[in-house]
Amino acid sequence: MPDREKSRVDLDGVPETLLWNLYQRATEARRPDAVLHDPKAIDLVDSLDYPFADRFGQGSLGQWQALRARCFDQEVRCFLTEHPDGQVVALGEGLETQFWRVDNGRVRWLTVDLPETVELRARLLPDDPPRRRTLACSALDEEWMRHVDPAEGLLLSAQGLLMYFEPDQVHRLIAGCAERFPGVTMVFDGVPPWFSRRTLDGRMKTAQGYQAPPMPWAVDGAEKARIRALPNVTELRDLRAPRGRGPLYGAVFPLLNRFRAVRALGVTGLPIMTVRFGR
Ligand SMILES: C[S@@+](CC[C@H](N)C(=O)[O-])C[C@H]1O[C@@H](n2cnc3c(N)ncnc32)[C@H](O)[C@@H]1O
Repeated sequence: MPDREKSRVDLDGVPETLLWNLYQRATEARRPDAVLHDPKAIDLVDSLDYPFADRFGQGSLGQWQALRARCFDQEVRCFLTEHPDGQVVALGEGLETQFWRVDNGRVRWLTVDLPETVELRARLLPDDPPRRRTLACSALDEEWMRHVDPAEGLLLSAQGLLMYFEPDQVHRLIAGCAERFPGVTMVFDGVPPWFSRRTLDGRMKTAQGYQAPPMPWAVDGAEKARIRALPNVTELRDLRAPRGRGPLYGAVFPLLNRFRAVRALGVTGLPIMTVRFGR
């Protein structure tokens, strides 16, 4: 597409991180042997006026990011098998294109994100009501809960979001969901403590100089115990990213991931988990 037709992007701070995720996913999806089929992500990257390679490099973490996305997709597909008319609420969805990867023709989808991100998403991926809607609202503001319809089943998802919050904000969000949505599952990811520390010290940088924003919320065994102890949280389950391509993602990481102690280091993939709320 010629440059003049590209859509301008003006994001910084946490919202800009959605471009990193999108770029990595699209870079992987362009490969003939991609582990993720995501033509919509490729279209989006091609339609944006943003210096992806100058900011983020060549997308060398594409497979890593794609396997993480597939892990979330797996949970959504599982949910849709049981609740084909259910609603998925994607908190902090950015320019995720998961809807197009998992759509069963019946699912209802609610994206919740900050106004500046929603403005961009609305330009590139306009709503298609009644099945696909977007709400400009902080995930930390309970307003979005009023737009949720759990009648046919509900799955809450927060991919690449909670690490940017303070621990007490994460706890309040999960506890609020547990109180408001009994019987529901929430899927989310986090970063291990060493990773969080590097972002807080400003040491999480690309070779091109892009610096990841602070991620104050870290997940380790003690943090999982705190989440399990929140009122009405009945289960916390660790998920494992699927097997990928090549020696590292296809053999070494899956082997190492069998060991809880290695998984806890978060080197072979970020922690991804579900929590279930009691009825
Ligand atoms: C790393 S991106 C993740 C985007 C997408 N979920 C993905 O995995 O590609 C972080 C996203 O969180 C959103 N975000 C940050 N703070 C938020 C808040 N308080 N409420 C809702 N969304 C927020 C940003 O706008 C951005 O879209």
